[in-house]
Amino acid sequence: MDLLYAIWLIFPAYVANASAVIFKGRIPIDFGKKWRGKPILGAGKTWRGLLGGTMTGMLAGLIMNLFYPSFGNGMEIVFVLFSLSFGALVGDMIKSFLKRRIGKERGEKWIIADQVDFLLGAFFLNFLMAREWFLSNFTLQRVLFLLVLTPLIHLATNLLAYVLKLKKVPW
Ligand code: CTP
Ligand code: MG
Repeated sequence: MDLLYAIWLIFPAYVANASAVIFKGRIPIDFGKKWRGKPILGAGKTWRGLLGGTMTGMLAGLIMNLFYPSFGNGMEIVFVLFSLSFGALVGDMIKSFLKRRIGKERGEKWIIADQVDFLLGAFFLNFLMAREWFLSNFTLQRVLFLLVLTPLIHLATNLLAYVLKLKKVPW
């Protein structure tokens, strides 16, 4: 039960991360600029994805909070939901930055990093912006559970898509 609640708490970050893909924009955050011959972030990180993802993650959290108040009191909720949503996408951007530095192309797979990037970003910005809420909600047990569970969900989803012949390879 406690671990299910961990999924509830991080859900706005999941929504932010997933909706960036739906919002996918055209103008890259790095405006197509390169650094030492390689894209700074790459064309997969757009302004529209960043803004749309942040807004959608926050909206999801606000709606969730109506059903079960859990994201803080008063103004705190804005800091909590912003840091979880925006933090998720910043984590994703940092991952892309590092990916470009090691020479991986946009969209090329980088296992584990591709799956936990948004969690690490959400945890970190949440810790910076809403420390009290973070410490009383994200216990070490919950954080570790989410870091392990997320790549497993990803793998299970891909295996299912493979079985359903929606994907050519099972990963
Ligand atoms: N996306 C976006 N803006 C963001 C994040 C994601 O527009 N800030 C969209 C892009 O269309 C992107 C897609 O969501 O291609 C999938 O996101 P992701 O897997 O994170 O990007 P990749 O294209 O795989 O690029 P990278 O190799 O840098 O991870
Ligand atoms: Mg990707």
